[in-house]
Amino acid sequence: MYILAIESSCDETAASVIENPPAGGENGIRILSNVIASQIDIHKEFGGVFPEKASRAHAEKIIPVVEEALNGIDPDLVAVTVGPGLIGSLLVGVNFAKTYAFARNKPIIGINHWLGHIYSNWAEEPHPQFPALFLIVSGGHTGLVLMEDYDKIKPLGETLDDAAGEAFDKISNLLGLGYPGGPAISKAAEEGDPKAFNFPRAMTDRKDYNFSFSGLKTAVLNETKKMGELSEKNKKDIAASFQQTVVDILINKTIRAAYEYQPKSICLCGGVSANKELREQMQKAVMSLRASAKQSLNPSIDRHGLWPHDDEKVSFHVPPIVLSTDNAAMVGLAAAYMDKSKYTTFENINADSNLKL
Ligand code: KG4
Ligand code: ZN
Repeated sequence: MYILAIESSCDETAASVIENPPAGGENGIRILSNVIASQIDIHKEFGGVFPEKASRAHAEKIIPVVEEALNGIDPDLVAVTVGPGLIGSLLVGVNFAKTYAFARNKPIIGINHWLGHIYSNWAEEPHPQFPALFLIVSGGHTGLVLMEDYDKIKPLGETLDDAAGEAFDKISNLLGLGYPGGPAISKAAEEGDPKAFNFPRAMTDRKDYNFSFSGLKTAVLNETKKMGELSEKNKKDIAASFQQTVVDILINKTIRAAYEYQPKSICLCGGVSANKELREQMQKAVMSLRASAKQSLNPSIDRHGLWPHDDEKVSFHVPPIVLSTDNAAMVGLAAAYMDKSKYTTFENINADSNLKL
């Protein structure tokens, strides 16, 4: 069957068609199209998403984006992001999807945006194995989630203030590096010294799996105030040190959760998972989990050292970059794995800007 997926929760108008299972009978799920109309140029001058302009741009783009994604295909199911997100943005995608489902008499399914990010890890094989630990890092959310089965998702902790992506965006503004902040900071950081500044690694001494990034933002702000006029070199060093601090915090919490919940797979998702340093350093940390299995030969180490055992492998997963940031293919992938009992009709679908996982 063909699934038409629609995503408009923030500043990308996106549509995708997923074939499930593909014609020819293989057991896979295939992404046939993945169209994304980015609003970066519209929001750039404001240094962040301007909600009113975002809704207008969604309204202008939704029909051409869906038409391009469908490319003549008649879908069997409509999947749409129902939240969380900016309400004016969500409503464009949701109302379009409802109208389409009504007019064409199609079943429809509402998908949580974070669940979509999680399923971006099903775009490529091998797929994550359960139990799987997910670090969701985007502009609107940062949290750790344990997935024990397709419909069994347990949030372990989340940010108590800013999301990691939001911190990237704010620091980028502060340094005058532009919007969106993630790619701008990571580019500047390439030529900076990640050890130049020692910013605080908040919450890493706590046993829970919550995050906090607002203190880091203040620390960077105070440092820049102290320095006065910033040279290009200063900016690069601050960007690199800030990025390394965020990466350290994210790895610290993820690896600690891994030791407690002993997953078969560790997965990254969300816009910040496009970050090269995070991808590479997290992969190394997961690999050294495997290496630590050797310690089990030493009986004097604590029980945590006994996992993972030599015959166990913890796999590391991260979506292709184009599926790290917002897209509709991830929404279609999530829908492809949902039970048919969740299919409904248009009148039962509503946008909810504060939807929880
Ligand atoms: O998942 P996403 O597209 O939208 C939300 O659901 O929020 O994430 C967007 C966030 C932005 O804050 C952006 O700065 C960040 O992801 N981001 C990055 C990178 N690319 C995008 N952060 C760090 N490094 C990147 N390369
Ligand atoms: Zn997102």
